[in-house]
Amino acid sequence: MEIIITADYQEMSTTCARMIAAEIKSKYDLVLGLATGGTPVGTYKELIRMHKDEGLDFSKVTTFNLDEYLGLTPLHKDSYNFFMWDNLFNHVNINPAKVYVPQGNTDDPEKFCEWYEEQIKRVGGIDLQLLGIGGDGHIAFNEPGSSLASRTRVKSLDEQTIKDNARFFEREDDVPRFAITMGVGTILDARKIILVANGEKKAKVCAQFIEGPVTSQITASALQLHPHATVILDKPAASRLARIEYYNWVRDNKYVVQKRIGR
Ligand code: PGA
Repeated sequence: MEIIITADYQEMSTTCARMIAAEIKSKYDLVLGLATGGTPVGTYKELIRMHKDEGLDFSKVTTFNLDEYLGLTPLHKDSYNFFMWDNLFNHVNINPAKVYVPQGNTDDPEKFCEWYEEQIKRVGGIDLQLLGIGGDGHIAFNEPGSSLASRTRVKSLDEQTIKDNARFFEREDDVPRFAITMGVGTILDARKIILVANGEKKAKVCAQFIEGPVTSQITASALQLHPHATVILDKPAASRLARIEYYNWVRDNKYVVQKRIGR
């Protein structure tokens, strides 16, 4: 994993947005996996700015969101579908026919999950997947104990996730107990992965998933198995890492190495 430590939330967001924009520019019909939550909002703001000021073109991009609360309709104000339209899709030239978010109010969740996996395959797989990390180490809603080979399915939410996400709802009781989520296996199939995390509250779990063992108890640790995973942290989220100097050295010198080997 490449670890990039940035000064603050703003720099984390612009660094991530620049990497996403570079992928879109190198492949105009990129298949982009997207995440919800507080962390990627700054990245989406920067992508919107790049679209408006620099003409970053989303018209041929296909997107797949990681997860959705089970039971919420796509237009529910607390749904992840609503979040995505509000925070990104409404503000760029995305083609709505190329936007995929799991359908929270599906009649047949099992069948829907199979269909979702098929759609990812049909477009040739996800080129770049953006991730946040939960306080319990989850990626998407792959709560502790999720199989590292899991595929898109219904998952019950962990107590900590319900508490963490209560801030987006009027009352904690309103947080749905189940979600449709891509599996860890689905995520690991993406060609490239970027995980963003910020704030002191994520410091412990970041040290665990980056420098601890691969374990289903912290599903983000499965990224250690991926050949092209980048983690972008702000300083507080990186504060409990043991090898900060090494990560910074690599960041500052990799261009020298790439130049030397002609890349
Ligand atoms: P957050 O959520 O960005 O709101 O911290 C991250 C997650 O649960 O994946």
